[in-house]
Amino acid sequence: MDTQQNNVIVTGGAGYIGSHACKALHDKGYLPIVIDSLELGHEWAVQWGPLFSYHFPKNENEIRQVFQTYKPIGVMHFAAYSAVGESVANPLKYYENNIQSSLCLLKLMQEFDCKNFIFSSTCSIYGEAQYVPLDEMHPIQPVNPYGKSKRMVETILQDFSKTKKINYASLRYFNAAGANENQLIGEQHTPETHLIPLILMAAAGKKDCIKVFGTNYDTPDGTCIRDYIHVTDLAEAHVKALEYIIEKQENLELNLGIGKGYSVKEVIEIAKQVTQKNIPTLYSEKREGDPPVLVANPSLAKKILNWNPRYQDLETIILHAWQWMQKDISTFSKKEF
Ligand SMILES: NC(=O)c1ccc[n+]([C@@H]2O[C@H](COP(=O)([O-])OP(=O)(O)OC[C@H]3O[C@@H](n4cnc5c(N)ncnc54)[C@H](O)[C@@H]3O)[C@@H](O)[C@H]2O)c1
Repeated sequence: MDTQQNNVIVTGGAGYIGSHACKALHDKGYLPIVIDSLELGHEWAVQWGPLFSYHFPKNENEIRQVFQTYKPIGVMHFAAYSAVGESVANPLKYYENNIQSSLCLLKLMQEFDCKNFIFSSTCSIYGEAQYVPLDEMHPIQPVNPYGKSKRMVETILQDFSKTKKINYASLRYFNAAGANENQLIGEQHTPETHLIPLILMAAAGKKDCIKVFGTNYDTPDGTCIRDYIHVTDLAEAHVKALEYIIEKQENLELNLGIGKGYSVKEVIEIAKQVTQKNIPTLYSEKREGDPPVLVANPSLAKKILNWNPRYQDLETIILHAWQWMQKDISTFSKKEF
């Protein structure tokens, strides 16, 4: 199949990170073609290319037609379930969706000779940090079904790429946060499970309080430490990774984070400063499957991709998320392509 050099299929492109990747692709002259079941995503978030409301693998035949029509140069695969707690409570749901969607997609790529695959992996594949910051050489021992499902897909990619039928970049994100700086798109999960939007919902009075899970972790203030990466920076890294694997025909496994950790208590304090609001806080028990510290060493990604995250400070990340939260999405209209 002759590929169309600027067509890229984006699975999960109606979701949070996928929609920002569509904007980053558009800004670099690509056409993002979104395939998303809309189970968790939003039509209004698809603003830079066509949307096909299909499910992997249930709509395999219809998705085959999308490959046939658009002849993509590559695929970015965001479609997955990603709530750690839910994956502990309902592991089969996670193994089924995250693995079957990937297998269906890879089979179609093989069928259409589409060679370039960007995979949304996660720092959850590392499990408990044996040292910080975590580089790509850190032992891989995921502690929850979500992280394990992502690692299984990485293993499939390693084996499949040995056949020379694909090159892949597995991008292991730390915590995506923030929103488009012009409030074109942003985070809107239902139910919300991510810390920063939950804190901001408490600041806005949309929730009674922010619940902090665990206060006796082995960290300076007893709460978990995470690395927050601006979603715009994350999205740009995807385009760079795609261009890298197309040009070099090599695989990549890269950590994407800022390289600085913030405790839950610190995030709440910064959110109070940014929003100038009181944020009621409730301390409760630890959750199963939450490692105490996850901070990236992003040196390899910065070097290989020539990637320089623009938003290094958590204040700006929280400010963009807060500005997005003020936006009235009911005024957003569906775009036609
Ligand atoms: N948000 C984070 O901080 C974070 C961190 C590490 C990794 N990730 C990974 O990044 C990816 C995107 O995360 P997000 O926060 O944007 O999630 P999201 O829930 O906002 O987006 C995922 C999208 O995929 C769609 N989808 C799910 N299963 C599907 C299927 N079988 N067929 C078609 N569409 C399907 C959903 O409708 C949704 O729109 C996920 O793979 C997630 O595991 C996210």
